[in-house]
Amino acid sequence: MTREISVTVNGTVYRKQVPVRLLLVDFIRDVLDLTGTHQGCTYEGVCGACTVQLNGEAVKSCMMLAVQADGQQVTTIEGLARNGVLHPLQKAFKEHHGLQCGFCTSGMIMNAEEFLRTNPRPTEDEIRHALIGNICRCTGYQGIVAAVSAAAEEMSAAGTPAKSGS
Ligand code: FES
Ligand code: FES
Repeated sequence: MTREISVTVNGTVYRKQVPVRLLLVDFIRDVLDLTGTHQGCTYEGVCGACTVQLNGEAVKSCMMLAVQADGQQVTTIEGLARNGVLHPLQKAFKEHHGLQCGFCTSGMIMNAEEFLRTNPRPTEDEIRHALIGNICRCTGYQGIVAAVSAAAEEMSAAGTPAKSGS
């Protein structure tokens, strides 16, 4: 069984006929070809690699059906940079060695972006707690925490934290 849905992803409206059982992560990756969002735990909801934002809130896209996003706004990692300029979180992950293989990175950043909008000046403990649902098998987390902290400082110095893409 299929259904037509209309989802705005990174500011673009997509109207697609999809199987009603299609997961949002597979819609994003396989239908829209936005492969920055990853699938890392065979749809068990434990790794966080598939994290995107739904109406500005971080969600695990393997835990949702695409039809549940009908009429909603989705932001993926591809929607974070502006006019070719990296988001402060993207820049900070690069500068503070917040990634090695990069598999977890898009999910980490989409989660951290929402977190910094709600807590613009977090402590290290608060950052670690916020990212508890995002697993990294490479970095040991030190660089990730340093990156989120540095991005928070940069965004606070610049004024209000950058808003989610759409
Ligand atoms: S793929 Fe969604 S949490 Fe792992
Ligand atoms: S950088 Fe490899 S899983 Fe996090």
